[in-house]
Formats: sequence, structure tokens, C-alpha cells
Amino acid sequence: MTKNKLVLVSLMVAVAFVASATVSMAKPIKIKFSHVVAENTPKGQMANKFKELIDQRLSGKVVVEVFPNSQLFGDNKVLEAMLLGDVQLAAPSLSKFKKYTKSLQIYDLPFLFSNMAAVEKFQQGPEGQKLLMSIKSKGLIGLGYLHNGLKQLSASSPLRVPADAKNKKFRIMSSDVLAAQFEAVGAMPLKKPFSEVFTLLQTKAIDGQENTWSNIYSKKFFEVQPFITESNHGVLDYLVITSTEFWMGLPDDLRSEIKKALDEAIAFGNTVAAQKAIDDRQKIIDSKRSKVLELTDAERQQWVNAMKPVWKQFEDQIGKNYIDAAIKSN
Ligand code: SIN
Repeated sequence: MTKNKLVLVSLMVAVAFVASATVSMAKPIKIKFSHVVAENTPKGQMANKFKELIDQRLSGKVVVEVFPNSQLFGDNKVLEAMLLGDVQLAAPSLSKFKKYTKSLQIYDLPFLFSNMAAVEKFQQGPEGQKLLMSIKSKGLIGLGYLHNGLKQLSASSPLRVPADAKNKKFRIMSSDVLAAQFEAVGAMPLKKPFSEVFTLLQTKAIDGQENTWSNIYSKKFFEVQPFITESNHGVLDYLVITSTEFWMGLPDDLRSEIKKALDEAIAFGNTVAAQKAIDDRQKIIDSKRSKVLELTDAERQQWVNAMKPVWKQFEDQIGKNYIDAAIKSN
């Protein structure tokens, strides 16, 4: 080999070495998953399960960091942060997408779904699947639904019939449908982030709020709310979302592995949700800090009659086709 050829070969070997070292040292893709609830909730457990599956299957390629309890972003900021690339996964309540789409308001209509089986049937049907993509034009993709469960009404005084809620202040999520729902019974709704609810209740700045058994238990609302009406008047579920930019920028093989892990984590979270709706309700009853009020059929019917006109009020914004499909899922 001539001297020139030897130099050339050595150079090629060196370039190949540097290139392979660069590939093997490529930084793993970071996924920050931000949420507002405690870790011992359906969403908290789902997020942790997702991290566990990614650690097992994509170690060195993808790293998941979970930030619970509004540690990274609260309700009002997470979607903006996602569009800026500061967070890659979140699962906000379906009631928190008002700025991005009107169609998802369907999930806030009071007494629309009879039970969680009906919610699941609607979500997995054609209309529910179409709604997953309703925020796409805003740069966000719905990757799946996650259940929490049916909402109950908690308050500082017993609520048996709609008249009991008159002139009372209730914290609500940032949804116009939920505002209309409380206005329909003469109450005063206040849109506030989840992270502020306990203090608002404790200081009696508000009289009550609506939430699921697992949120009422894990955030200790039951310790500062002497009455919980088992109303099951609405659903609190989540949309697991990412930004289009992040999702479409992933290599195809990693994207499908991540989606698979996410689907498994969601299925796990849904099992946790069903169990917690039973267990956390019982723990609240056992604590004796809060009295759980069961409604008679006649009492419940009064709430239905008072709140159901809200459907008509939002029909044009939501789309009648979606409401009809939801009714059919019952
Ligand atoms: C959540 O479950 O993510 C929060 C619900 C709420 O804001 O009440």
C-alpha cells in the first residue's frame, strides 16, 4: 500500500469510528409527562405504568419523566407548554379543552351517560374516535381516552335537591357547560385550577365542588367537606395528548413502541379507575369525616330535570350527531 493510500484508509477508519461512537452516544428522547393529580389515582398510576413499560422496553432510547401534583404545569398552562415543546405528554380532563375545540364539551353534559360502560362504548365508537382528533388543527393529537369516573357533589351543607344548591359557590373546571350546569340550579360556579381546590374549601371561600371519588379522596377534599351527594351526574375522563410536532418527529419504530406502551398503560389505568371508584368511596365513608348522601329516585329526578336543559343550550356548539350517539351508548 502506498503512503497516500495508507493515510486515506486510516482517515476512513477514524471517520467510521467517530460516526459509530456518535450513534451509540445519541441522547435518548425525553418525554416529560405532566399531570395535576396525586400518584395514587387512575391517572397517576397510568403515568407511572407508562414510565415503567418504557424503561423496560426502550431503555437508553427513550426516557420518561413523570411530574404529578401540578409540579411542572397546572391546568391552565400545560397545553400551551406542550405546543412550545416544554412537555410531551399530558392527560388533562376532557373539560379543559374549551380553547381548542367545542366538540369535547359533550363530556360535560350533565346526566348524559348512565354509567362508565356507556362512556366506554361511546369513546370506542366512531364518534368518540373522531373526537380524539378534534384538536388536531391546533397542533395537538389525542392518543387515547383514560377513565377516572363519575362525579359526585361535595358541599359544606347537605345537597338533596337542586334548591339546596341555590346561591352556593361551587368550584368548577374551566368549562362553560359546567358553569351552565350549576347556573341551572341557581348556584354560582367559579372556574379554578385543581391545585387551588383544597384551600378554597378549607378556607370556606367556596361551598362545594364536583369530582370523582378518587380525586375527593386523594386530595383530601372529604376532610373539609362534611357532605358528599352521590349524584353520579357527570363524567370526569381524560384525553391523553401530545403535540403533532413531537409525535410526527419520532422515528416510526419508536412511535409505534411508545403508542403500544401507552395503550397498555391506559388499559391498566382504566382498571385502577374502576376499582378506585369503589374503594375510595368506601374509605371516605369509613373515615366518618364526610357523610355520603344517597338520593332517592325522586330526588335524583329533580336534579335531572333542572340540569338537562343544558344539553339544548350547547347542542349547536357540540353537534347533535355526537349527542345522539352518546344517548344511544346508554
Ligand atoms: C384531574 O383529575 O385531572 C383534575 C380534575 C379537576 O380539575 O377537578
